[in-house]
Amino acid sequence: MSSENPQTQAWALLQAARILADQHAFARNDCLSESTTNGDNGSCSFVFNLQSGAVDTLAGQIHDADLIHSPLEGWQYSNALPQAARDMLDLYLPVLGTATQTRVVIGHLGQSIDARIATLDGDAFFVTGEENRRHLHRLRSLCHAVVVGAATVSADDPQLTTRAVSGASPVRVIIDPQARVSQDSRVLHDGEAPTWLLHADTVALDSLPQSDGYRRLAVRSMDGRLQPQDILDVLAQNGLRRIFVEGGGVTVSRFFNARCLTRLQIATAPLLVGEGIASLQIPGAASMKLALRPDFRLYRMGQDVMWDFELSDEHWDSVSPQEPSNSTELQRLL
Ligand SMILES: NC(=O)c1ccc[n+]([C@@H]2O[C@H](COP(=O)([O-])OP(=O)(O)OC[C@H]3O[C@@H](n4cnc5c(N)ncnc54)[C@H](OP(=O)(O)O)[C@@H]3O)[C@@H](O)[C@H]2O)c1
Repeated sequence: MSSENPQTQAWALLQAARILADQHAFARNDCLSESTTNGDNGSCSFVFNLQSGAVDTLAGQIHDADLIHSPLEGWQYSNALPQAARDMLDLYLPVLGTATQTRVVIGHLGQSIDARIATLDGDAFFVTGEENRRHLHRLRSLCHAVVVGAATVSADDPQLTTRAVSGASPVRVIIDPQARVSQDSRVLHDGEAPTWLLHADTVALDSLPQSDGYRRLAVRSMDGRLQPQDILDVLAQNGLRRIFVEGGGVTVSRFFNARCLTRLQIATAPLLVGEGIASLQIPGAASMKLALRPDFRLYRMGQDVMWDFELSDEHWDSVSPQEPSNSTELQRLL
């Protein structure tokens, strides 16, 4: 194992961890209650060794663990792993959640220095570079669902698969309240992964075209708007609890403003677009002192820099608007 590329090694660990998280029912209330009653000996505790592929509960005999999970400590990895592998695990293990989280929701936007995610006519190919795009495919692979807004499907006709990495593609979820997405869109007929269209509950689903290529679901709406919490509830009722909100700006902003994101990742590329489609749109702070300053890690991805903000409830509660975060790690991710 030691002769392997550290990132290949870390990705293999993450794929194993993803399967373990699903098997041990992470991000599900029954796992949460079981781990609370059983403490570290609950079924959500385990150790994993990549070389032998062995998994055991914490009470087991494995001492050379690469990964450990316990409800109290969350994920931990071996310090014997190379630094580049540990950097990757720092970035991606939080995406898998822990036994004490009922869901994980990651938002990501790739923007120019002047905070544009596309030109005015919707051209977004490409804002960020190859390494950030590989990162997006990794996030897709670790999550149960990738969510985008109707405007992104109309502008990009995306595939939303994991072509750049090994690992399964997630369910592709399109927020399309008024059923305006074209029937010619690739995600509706390419068969590469399941596709779900979320419509406002005011739309008569029976009157819309039906196909084996996708599924239509109704979500409670008000004035054509779907509450992000209602969207997440519908996805959770259907077994999807690790959610990657990939864009565009309107969609990620609505999840952010509803405080439905566990993490927000903003990758900034060294280019200036000028007038264009806006990145994150949030209400203005009344003063600089009241500007949000969540904890973050900073990752270098080729020429781009990505801020990975921690937004879980306990972090929101603990963040003082007056004090800058002390998270200033700069890590390189190839
Ligand atoms: N650089 C990047 O990271 C990135 C990522 C993705 C996309 N893009 C680019 O971004 C552009 C599109 O972004 P955008 O911000 O204009 O739009 P968007 O977020 O892709 O889609 C917004 C639309 O999705 C629907 N929607 C999303 N959330 C909703 C909610 N909570 N309730 C009801 N409807 C909801 C609405 O559809 P209706 O209008 O039908 O009501 C809304 O107008 C494209 O040019 C694409 O290429 C860039």
